[in-house]
Amino acid sequence: MRSGIFAGRYKILSLLGRGGMGHVYRAEHLGLGKEVALKILAPLHGPASSDFPERFAREARAIGRLDHPGCVRIFDYGQDDDGSQYIAMELIDGPTLGTALGEDVFSIHRALHVGRAILSALAHAHAHGIVHRDIKPENVMLAGGSGFRVVLIDFGLASLRDAPALTGRGMAVGSPSYIAPERLLGQPHDHRADIYSVGVLLYEMITGIRPFIGESPQEIMANALSRPHRPLRALAPHASPILEAVIRRALSKDPDKRFADAEEMMSALGDVERLDALATGDAEPADEASASMTIAELSIHQPSRLARLWGWLRYGAWRWRPGH
Ligand SMILES: Nc1ncnc2c1ncn2[C@@H]1O[C@H](COP(=O)(O)OP(=O)(O)O)[C@@H](O)[C@H]1O
Ligand SMILES: [Mg+2]
Repeated sequence: MRSGIFAGRYKILSLLGRGGMGHVYRAEHLGLGKEVALKILAPLHGPASSDFPERFAREARAIGRLDHPGCVRIFDYGQDDDGSQYIAMELIDGPTLGTALGEDVFSIHRALHVGRAILSALAHAHAHGIVHRDIKPENVMLAGGSGFRVVLIDFGLASLRDAPALTGRGMAVGSPSYIAPERLLGQPHDHRADIYSVGVLLYEMITGIRPFIGESPQEIMANALSRPHRPLRALAPHASPILEAVIRRALSKDPDKRFADAEEMMSALGDVERLDALATGDAEPADEASASMTIAELSIHQPSRLARLWGWLRYGAWRWRPGH
């Protein structure tokens, strides 16, 4: 735990969190009088072969490339005289998704909001050649506490399209619960590994438990690799069959069977939300005519759309997007 002034201009105020690579502090940039989150990688005492410094530099480059409300923004990156690297970034005022999940399960509405916001941020990152690779509740923040601005942090494990893969000791991977099967197996992977992790998050937000559990990391991995998860609605009967199907698809063990990209999954969740609203009569006032429709009536009023949904549910071949 540090205190005092860091790198000549950051006054350390308090510890915000600690993780695999270092400590994150609330700090004040003295010249600007502005509060930031300061992530510091301490100079290493361990073997010189560690790739932490390279990973840290890569994290800074990755966030520096992004510009999206759902991706934490970077202000500064550098090194202190003692060799400690630091990243000064936007201070997110709110809990992590992990903290929020520790309090209660989420309503479907809130889970859909958070899921779609994460996917929107991921679509942006993926379009810039960045796969996050560490989507888990501790790396998602809910700004303001209400969950209405959802921010991805911790790009420390991200892969960048135009940078070589890092080899060597690598980072100790925490809970394997969020990691896609192909990564557990050490196989080549792409942006669809992030889609799998979002499937895990949605399942956990709605049911309160993760799809694959076990007594040890090995058991969790074995379950994730070889077993089906318990159907969502066995644990959350209030969820719609369509939402269950969306999550099942995101959790496919074969990446080819998942959504092709984050945008596709985001629009599927948008449709789940609209159908849920129609089914519960909870639609927007402007949509009053359709608000009283049940799903059965929907088939009369919007037959082509329902047919597409059924087709997708039965064959898992969702190819439709709004506006297309
Ligand atoms: N920009 C930020 N604003 C507020 N808190 C943050 C911010 N970045 C990180 N934190 C806190 O610090 C913790 C560790 O940060 P993270 O970047 O995930 O580091 P690590 O790579 O060590 O896991 C987070 O889980 C969160 O609680
Ligand atoms: Mg982290």
